[in-house]
Amino acid sequence: MKKILITLCISAITFLGFAQGNTRTQELGKYEGLAMTPPMGWNSWNTFGTNIDEKLVKETADIMVSSGMAAAGYNYIVLDDGWMAKERDENGNLVPDPIKFPNGMKVLIDYVHSKGLKFGLYNCAGTHTCAGYPGTRGYEYQDARFYANLGVDFLKYDWCNTAGITAKEAYTTMSNALKKAGRPIVFSLCEWGDNQPWEWGKPVGNLWRISGDIYPCFDCEFKHPENWSSWGFMKIAEMRKDIRKFSGPDHWNDFDMMEVGNEMTTIEDRSHFAMWCMLASPLIAGNDFRKMKPETLAILTNKNLIAVNQDKLGIQGFKLTVEDGVEVWVKPLSDGAWAVTFLNRTELPKTINFDWKKHPIKDADFGFEADFAKNTYQLQDLWKNKSAGSTKKNFAASIIAHDVITLKLIP
Ligand code: GLA
Repeated sequence: MKKILITLCISAITFLGFAQGNTRTQELGKYEGLAMTPPMGWNSWNTFGTNIDEKLVKETADIMVSSGMAAAGYNYIVLDDGWMAKERDENGNLVPDPIKFPNGMKVLIDYVHSKGLKFGLYNCAGTHTCAGYPGTRGYEYQDARFYANLGVDFLKYDWCNTAGITAKEAYTTMSNALKKAGRPIVFSLCEWGDNQPWEWGKPVGNLWRISGDIYPCFDCEFKHPENWSSWGFMKIAEMRKDIRKFSGPDHWNDFDMMEVGNEMTTIEDRSHFAMWCMLASPLIAGNDFRKMKPETLAILTNKNLIAVNQDKLGIQGFKLTVEDGVEVWVKPLSDGAWAVTFLNRTELPKTINFDWKKHPIKDADFGFEADFAKNTYQLQDLWKNKSAGSTKKNFAASIIAHDVITLKLIP
């Protein structure tokens, strides 16, 4: 009898333990509400790769504030791959590279916070990061505590060296670990869209990459010798235009860090920025602020375009039509208005003569409509910041190769 009672007690305790465990697992998941509009900031990777250090971060933070970037909405400074030493310490903790960051990470993060900015770090779900530094696999809860103790606000979590694990599980584990660590940290999934994160990522992270890496070109594919490709910004826009219904406040399709100010022409930079705004992509600059030209700053801080990106409806725009190589992208906005971008995808100058009445807009994913035969909208040119007539007349303009015109249609 005693034996039976003991067995019963053990079973009950085990059952309760499991039940509790299950309940707790369900309660975890991402920190909600940290990215109700697409996150804006700066990331080191596109320009600096692993050549990052304390001086670069401090100078970038200083310029983020002094240049007006912070006032325009850019507030995350994110260190990508290369911030760590090659080995964990004897307790298994991550170690910032002592040469690049001689004063450690805490002092630097405090500095960034003192400027009114937020700070992000990078790691990877695999055994090692893409550049070969210690990955988080098997250390999820320990690393999450490490970030929380440092005061990190954003974690970009990559997908190299992940043989044998599944993306949904690996990202869910890290999401739970971050929540458990108790500090609100924006969780940025970076598995390149290989495992359709838009289908399972909403309770897990605040944004997810939807493609392989960006390349500073308009429409090219750059083939790396190791058999993978990086993509021009229009290639990325095109390849993921059909998953827009999965993106929205606090769960964004991430079209990758921007290449504005890197190797493209100013015209192409403008188109790139306009597209990222139309697509409601996170706006993470990837240029060297210390060498930023005035025209680059003007593009990145364009208030009208940023308002399109940060619109609280949070709807990813879509391609309405193409006429003679000029694409027309549209995005519904919260005040009943629409953003419309004409983009010349060709290598030649083009003439636009757009008859609004022939192009009613129907957003099948979100249920918005604009019928220009019934309703007239006033046009505001968002780059020139001036009125451009109304939808009563055809919209007539010339547009050089790779350029954009972005209008706001106000009912
Ligand atoms: C992957 C990511 C990039 C960058 C590098 C770092 O390629 O997609 O954005 O983080 O790794 O190694």
